Amino acid sequence: MFRRPRRNRVSAAVRAMTTEIHLNAQHLVQPIFLVDGQGIKNEVPSLPGSFRLSLDNVLKEVEECLTLGIQSFIMFPAVADELKDKTGTYGYRPDNFYLKAATEIKKRFPEACLISDVALDPYSSDGHDGIVRGGKILNDETLEVLAKMSVAQAEAGFDILGPSDMMDGRVGAMRLALDEAGFTDTAIMSYTAKYASAFYGPFRDALDSAPKADADIPADKKTYQMNPANKREALIEAELDTVEGADYLMVKPALNYLDVIHLLRENSELPIAAYHVSGECAMLLAACRNGWLDYDKAMPETLLSIRRAGTDVIITYFAKDFARKFPAGI
Ligand code: PBG
Repeated sequence: MFRRPRRNRVSAAVRAMTTEIHLNAQHLVQPIFLVDGQGIKNEVPSLPGSFRLSLDNVLKEVEECLTLGIQSFIMFPAVADELKDKTGTYGYRPDNFYLKAATEIKKRFPEACLISDVALDPYSSDGHDGIVRGGKILNDETLEVLAKMSVAQAEAGFDILGPSDMMDGRVGAMRLALDEAGFTDTAIMSYTAKYASAFYGPFRDALDSAPKADADIPADKKTYQMNPANKREALIEAELDTVEGADYLMVKPALNYLDVIHLLRENSELPIAAYHVSGECAMLLAACRNGWLDYDKAMPETLLSIRRAGTDVIITYFAKDFARKFPAGI
């Protein structure tokens, strides 16, 4: 035989030398669920190991992550029901605890990179990412709220804004508002291809943000999030986000959409991010807790597969754990 591929797998040294893809803490973003208050650390029942934290505990968490080499954080607020309304006004109120927390975190840890969530759902009494009226999600009216939210988040100190709402034209509307307010250095990581997925369940539990079953509109997000059957459509979204000024393109979820990650990687020069979402992490945790899979092996293999598909950045609930277990990367 002239060709024996196994020769390049013969020893640990050879395998290390011929490794194509590496993964370490600097590629990973740790999600954080923030609640108002003090001394709060509530585990999310459907996502063991993830917690709703008050700011005092978030500061500890950020410090620990920074020590482990995780430098980027994506933050989501769990908002009390009485602060929610039809148009998500709490999202840009100056006394919003999420905005105040970002300012405090940046003051304590200026080296941390803070990524926000731009969408109405944490603040919406309807649990939708846009304004609901007459059985419809109002696209253009929602853009005005997203623009206000963006400027408020940039003012609070967020480094990168993450529009997760899937309204048409949001990246352009945000870029315009940010530039007009002088925030030319605030970046946009757009949820470019965000699918109407069943894998967001534990996240919606954490934030109590599931779309409400209302006679007026179905309790799903199918009129704005993408159809899981569609791949070419991701290229349309990618093109729009790029011309509108996005600095990163994101695919979400990650594992069931590795082909979409690869497609964007092949068709864009921008950094590609993937969101390894709550339900995907929960599945793996459930199997490991049952003794059916080995966490220390299945977790890094999973993250590696997302990177191999073509991502630069992976948002995953396993970020801190990976950094702790694999300090030198893999
Ligand atoms: C909200 C948002 C969602 C997630 C991130 N931002 C939920 C949704 O669209 O309903 C899901 C993340 C996860 O499941 O880990 N716009």
